[in-house]
Amino acid sequence: MVLAEWIREAENIVIFSGAGMSTESGLRDFRSFDRGMWNDRDPMELASTTAMEKNRDEFIRFYQWRIQEMLKLQPNQGHRILAKWEAAGIVKGIITQNVENYHEQAGTKNIAKLHGDLGTLRCMACGRRYACEDYLPPLSRTACACGGFIRPNIVLFGEMLPQEALELAEQLLQKADLFLVLGSSLTVSPANQFPVLAKQQGAHLVIVNREPTPLDPMADLTLHRSIGEVLGEADGSLANSKSRL
Ligand code: APR
Repeated sequence: MVLAEWIREAENIVIFSGAGMSTESGLRDFRSFDRGMWNDRDPMELASTTAMEKNRDEFIRFYQWRIQEMLKLQPNQGHRILAKWEAAGIVKGIITQNVENYHEQAGTKNIAKLHGDLGTLRCMACGRRYACEDYLPPLSRTACACGGFIRPNIVLFGEMLPQEALELAEQLLQKADLFLVLGSSLTVSPANQFPVLAKQQGAHLVIVNREPTPLDPMADLTLHRSIGEVLGEADGSLANSKSRL
């Protein structure tokens, strides 16, 4: 398996994950041809600053549903393999667009969360943090003690990405010699620039995605297959060679 060979030879592997990483946990992604969330809803009506202001009740219901789904489901084999590879020194860190906390739950430590964290809420006025469970019935807390509106601690369309996550992502990118994209349509900027920058600074670019992406032409290897299968095979091959695990 070519990917396993490249993993064995690489010294600085960085993972870039998207919503496709968590479909095998049962979470829906956004743009899969068959069941992506944005196939039948305009993201600007639900996941934007405008939606939060003008469509607040549906905005709150949407994120209550997403939090319930996240809490009900759990990390899959792919998340666990990546955490094992980080512990073994194979993976240096994960740049993720995902807001569910499955990489953390699986044990990965070095994570740049470009689009924030659905596990926490924050008050728009005073910045106070709350646990995501507070959004759910019976509490359904959306008003802070200070009177401000409590929202999910994620990046909405129309908002800047968190500086700290961008800095960590750039640090990881600098040294990457193998940049492995897992489950992203690579259609949302600026996140989708990271694979381009990795390639430009000399990393091997590998894209594992069920469907073609706009960056496939520049990739050194594209695998239009399931992430769980690909990571499972690579993990098995590495274990057999015993050189890296
Ligand atoms: N294995 C491999 N690929 C998969 C799997 C799987 N098990 N499941 C889904 N995919 C692929 C889909 O074919 C799709 O192309 O993962 C990709 C997921 O793409 P998107 O749904 O667009 O998710 P993502 O790229 O992370 O979206 C970026 O858009 O709405 C915003 O903020 C949101 O972070 C998100 C951003």
